Amino acid sequence: MTLPIMEDPRRVAPAAARNRDPIMAALRHLLPAEGLVLEVASGTGEHCAYFAQSLPGLVFQPSDPDAESRASIDAWCAGIPNIRPALALDAAAVDWPLEHAAAVLCINMIHIAPWSATPGLLRGAARLLPPGAPLILYGPYRREGVPTASSNEEFDASLRERNPEWGLRRLEDVAAAAAAEGLGLGKVLEMPANNLLVMFRR
Ligand SMILES: C[S@@+](CC[C@H](N)C(=O)[O-])C[C@H]1O[C@@H](n2cnc3c(N)ncnc32)[C@H](O)[C@@H]1O
Repeated sequence: MTLPIMEDPRRVAPAAARNRDPIMAALRHLLPAEGLVLEVASGTGEHCAYFAQSLPGLVFQPSDPDAESRASIDAWCAGIPNIRPALALDAAAVDWPLEHAAAVLCINMIHIAPWSATPGLLRGAARLLPPGAPLILYGPYRREGVPTASSNEEFDASLRERNPEWGLRRLEDVAAAAAAEGLGLGKVLEMPANNLLVMFRR
């Protein structure tokens, strides 16, 4: 009898291992001490597994619209007590499959999705979060009056080649869309490899 070979659903994003510690160091200061953290666009799930183990006082709710990503997330997060099973969540959708969160986190999504995902993310986060709670974004941006690093220009060109609706966003455009949803721009932290960590508060 031949048994089916079970493939390991865990996927690996090499960037996640590189950026997880600097992001974690910032999250320690920005996340609340307790409550539910919704991660939008969890991807492989490596970040969520790492952050949840480092911050056991919080409960993490990973999500991704992609079914293979959700299988990877659940495999990476299996056995970690403060992580819920991954939800199917499209940031651009009107309905999100949960009602409340103490914080919302979204890493490296808004430039790798059509622009509609950004106002969707901001609208959804504003609906879920209580007053004063944070929405934390991480990734590369363009900024008015700041030259864009050549590595980010190359990255932007490669994204647009893959999908003309993708590409680096202007921080000012994201902040304006956030303000329209009642989210005020808080901290903007310079991160390694020309990324920013941007915090909004409801
Ligand atoms: C570059 S990966 C980043 C994954 C992970 N956050 C990380 O940093 O390793 C982009 C992720 O965004 C997700 N994504 C794309 N469009 C989305 C949308 N409209 N709503 C939520 N997630 C989306 C993709 O499925 C993918 O998992």
